Order: sequence, then structure tokens, then C-alpha cells
Amino acid sequence: MCGIIGTIGFPDAADALLQGLRRLEYRGYDSAGIAVRDDSGFAVRRAVGKLNALANVLNDAPLHGTTGIGHTRWATHGGVNMANAHPIMSGDRVAVVHNGIIENHRILRQALSAKGYTFHSQTDTEVLAHLFADAVDQTTTLMEATETVIAQIEGAYAFAVMVADYPDHLAIARQASPLAIGISDAAVFVGSDAIAMGDVTQRVMFLKDGDYGTISKQDIVIKDASAQLANRDITIVAASPGLVTKEGYQHFMEKEIHEQPDTVMRTLGAFSKTDGADGTDGADGAFALPDGFDFSNMTGLAYLAAGTSYNAGLIGRYWMEQLADLPVVTESASEFRYRQPSTRHISLAMGISQSGESLDTLMALRYMADKGVDTAALVNVDSSTMARESGGYLLTRAGPEIGVASTKSYMAQLTVLLIMATIAGHQRGVLSDARRAEIEQMLASVPRLIGAAMASAATIKAIVPRLAQAKSCLYLGRGTLYPLAMEGALKLKELSYIHAEAYASGEMKHGPIALIEDGLPVVALLANDEHLSKSISNVVEAKARGADVIIIATESAAKLAMDEIEGLDGHVATVPDCDALIAPLILSLPIQFLAYLTAVHKGTDVDQPRNLAKSVTVE
Ligand code: F6R
Repeated sequence: MCGIIGTIGFPDAADALLQGLRRLEYRGYDSAGIAVRDDSGFAVRRAVGKLNALANVLNDAPLHGTTGIGHTRWATHGGVNMANAHPIMSGDRVAVVHNGIIENHRILRQALSAKGYTFHSQTDTEVLAHLFADAVDQTTTLMEATETVIAQIEGAYAFAVMVADYPDHLAIARQASPLAIGISDAAVFVGSDAIAMGDVTQRVMFLKDGDYGTISKQDIVIKDASAQLANRDITIVAASPGLVTKEGYQHFMEKEIHEQPDTVMRTLGAFSKTDGADGTDGADGAFALPDGFDFSNMTGLAYLAAGTSYNAGLIGRYWMEQLADLPVVTESASEFRYRQPSTRHISLAMGISQSGESLDTLMALRYMADKGVDTAALVNVDSSTMARESGGYLLTRAGPEIGVASTKSYMAQLTVLLIMATIAGHQRGVLSDARRAEIEQMLASVPRLIGAAMASAATIKAIVPRLAQAKSCLYLGRGTLYPLAMEGALKLKELSYIHAEAYASGEMKHGPIALIEDGLPVVALLANDEHLSKSISNVVEAKARGADVIIIATESAAKLAMDEIEGLDGHVATVPDCDALIAPLILSLPIQFLAYLTAVHKGTDVDQPRNLAKSVTVE
């Protein structure tokens, strides 16, 4: 999703902006650009494609100045080309970088065209540039001009604007899309998040929705949505790690898959009492949740999320209902708030989000807060909007995830969801001390089992050349392995561009079985659970109709399947045996490898698949 960076007063603005854009790369983008004010006005450099292309342009034609703005663009309105890359200009008077969608841009475009403004791009952002040019003529301060513009636009936006008439200032605003101000001794910055400014400062002021204002080296003036002057606290954010590197792996995704034992260990550590976590628990368990997470008297829980986080929430639902007898709805955030859901029985709405910024999830949480429901967030970024806006939050310890396709943050989400269900089960009197201790023991074994499950990559590698030829593919699972099948299908789709659908194994006979024909790959997930014999029967049914069956299973479940079904040699990837409760965590490994290695085999852009963004801040 688009990323914004800006600075006033930095000795080499272009360099700081390029570094900031590199830090925003994780959000996903397809073009980038920088505008710097120099002695003769605004100088702009843009490039389609990766930041190295922009760096080359800057090498050939350097920019000199101390004030500038930069942008990574993830196309929404208008194709991926130089004309649509930001900064977007209004003549030589205004330069704009924007993240979001100006929903009334068509009508504004008509009105501005009628006034004589010429449009050079297909972007919705260009109306912002011309609106500023227009407003500057009608007003006497940059703040007034900003207010004039904001009064005319509808939609989601975060923007930073340079206006030639106000050389020492930037105009900024946010509505639904994130924006923060960074303050260092040398300069002032603006960025989509604290990560963007991590090289230059840890002192960050997070803007609230509806905030707008002007910033200069001397002063930062912010007004809130009701046009009142607002004081926003300066937060000292955790030292941001340097630029994350691949550390010898071919792709960030490969590195992040391999980091998962450590991710789970760190996440377990953060909730472990011996490592200092101390809060709501009720008795002597190994893990605790922060104060305020008391499930004892809850009547219902809603997990609201998107994409991979939604798939994690579906597994979390099975766990919470099974272990804590607490009704859960897991819903796609993008649908939830628009279907007028009944919220009466819901005691807590929890947004699950790696970034903590997905607009759909954020809006669903706000909807619930408006309905008077308590909210919480399960996020990987503690300075994220969801963490800051929710009543409480739980933090996964996945560290920065650079691969656009989520792996280690998904694993960390599952870890916290299982800890939470276990503690809730104990708080609600469903789990005895002994059962809780048993589950905690299992949780402690997850990093080791995940480490051992890495070995499945070798078998998967041999299966991949066949799968890579397929146009379409099915994933099957029962119980928690059904949402894991959904995650497997999502990963394969987004990385290798092969159409993949997941079905609950038991649903096959109700329709999807009609799809099975000779050679159709069917990935079946099996574990040592109460569904095993039924799941094997479903595989038999698929195989009898010519499917090219790929089994991903725990060792003994795989053995049982191979005893019952002939011709599976070379079609089975296994992970170590484990309790059914933690099977989705361990089986995630071969699922991820299947998608990753298929993508590598096909030569797709693994870390930044086409059309995808890491943090989706538009609807
Ligand atoms: C898929 C993936 C996405 C995200 C989704 C939600 O691999 O990463 O489906 O899970 O966009 O993002 P967050 O978790 O940041 O809210």
C-alpha cells in the first residue's frame, strides 16, 4: 500500500527520503518518486518498478535540498506508469504525496477542469494537487488553504504537500490512513509510520483521524477534526532495527519461514510468567495475559480480520470454542460492518492484524466500539493504529515481516490465539489445572516441532514441479485443518498465481467433487485427530476420480493413509507426530513451503507478488 515520507531541514533530503522509502518497501508498491525543493523550485524524480530504479534515476540526476517528500505507490486509480507515480504536481506550485482514495475525485476533477486546471494523470490524487493550488489563491495561510481543501474532499487520505508559496512548511492531514510526525534535533519528518523514520528518529507524534496541520522546522501546528488546536503526545518508539536483510536466504519469505521456531519462542516468552508477564490468569499457569483480558463472564467473542489473519482467526475460533466453551464469530472485516451484524451477545471484539493498520479491520473495530462493544487488537506492531485505538492489545513477537505473504506473523498469531484460548478455558472453569498444564507443555514443544517440520521442504521440492504445471488445485481439511487448508490455498494463489480453493473435506461430496478430473492436484491435510478415518475416505474418493493427490500430514496419519491408498509414494510430505490441538501450527510449515517452492519454481516475484500490498490501508 502507498507509503509517505517527508522532511524539512534534513541536510540531504533526497537521501533521507530514499532511505525512508526503503523502510516503507514492506508495504508493497509498484512505482516511487521524490520531490525536493531546490533553488529553482521543485525538482521531481520518479521511476516505475522497484526503488533501485528510483535510486538509479537519482544517481544520474541527483537532487539537492533540505525539504522534500517521497512516495511508494500501490496503484488504485490509474495504471502503473510514470504519469501516475507520485509526487503529483499542480504546475510548479504544488507537489503532493497521498495514501488513500479520494472518493469524490470525479466530481472534483470536473469542477477543477472547468476552472481551467489540466490533468496529467489518472490518479485521484491529482485533484488534491489542484485543490491546493486553487486554495492558496483564496487564502492567506497554508493552514487555511489546507482547511479549504479538506472541506472539499471525501474518502480516506494521508497526505504531505509542498506549496511553492510556503517554502518552509509542509501541509499534512490524515483521515483513516495512517500518518505520523518524527522529530529529530536536525529536522522534522512525516511518514506513514514510525518505521519509515526509524533511521533518523525515535521521537514520534502519531496523528489521530481527522488531524491536519502544518509543519516546519520551527513549529508543528496540528488541529483536530473539529478544527481545534490539538496537542499530540510525543512517543518514544522502540529503536527500530536497521534495514532488514535476507541474511543469505534467497528471499525474505524463505528467511521468515525459517525464523518461525524463534518467532514462536519469543511470542511464548512474552506471555510466559517466568519471563515477566504477569496479569489476568486466575491461577498458577505458565502463561498470563495482560490485565483486563478476563474471559470469565463473556458471552461471546468476535475475531475480525482479513486474509491470512482471518484464516488464523478461524483456527482461533475452533480453539476458543473447544477449550473455553465461549461462542466465537470470526468474520471478514470487510463484510462485517456493512451487514448490520447483531452485536448483543458479543462481549469483546478482537481485531487480528499483523500490521495493525488494515483499514477493513480498523473500521470493523471502530464499528464495534461505536456499538459500545469492548475492543482489543492482536497485532505485530505495538505503535499501530489498532493497538493505540483498542481497549487493550496483545503483541505477537514476529519482528518485522518483509515478505508480503504472511508466514511468521501468522504463526505468531496462532500461538497467541492458542495461549488465549487456554487461559480463557481455565478462567471459565472448562479446563482443569492439569489439562491447562498439558496444553502449555504442548505449546512449549511447538518451536522444536516446527524446527523438525522444516525437513518437509525436501519432499515438497520433489512434488513442486508437478504442481507448478497446474492451472487449478484443491486443498482439503477437516476441523482446524480446514482453515489451514484455506491458508494453504491463499498462499499458493498469491505466490504462484495458481488458482486454488479450499474445501472442508466433508463438503466435497456436496458439489466440489464435480471439479475433480484426471491430474487435478488435491492437497489433503491429515493429522492424528478424530476426523482422520473420514478424511482418508475423502482422499480415496478424490483419488478414485483421477486426482493427483498430495498428502501433507503428521507421520502416523500419513502412514495410515499410505496403508489404505495405493500409489502415494512421492506424494506425501510429513511432519513429526503431535497432538491434534497443535497440528495446525506444525502443518503450516509444509503448507508454506509448498507455496514458496512452487513460486520459486515458476519464477514469480516471491517477496512482492503482483498486485499485493503488505499493509492494505484502503477499502
Ligand atoms: C496474505 C497476507 C494478507 C494479510 C491481510 C491482512 O499472505 O499477508 O492476506 O493477512 O492483508 O493484513 P494484516 O494482518 O496486516 O491486517
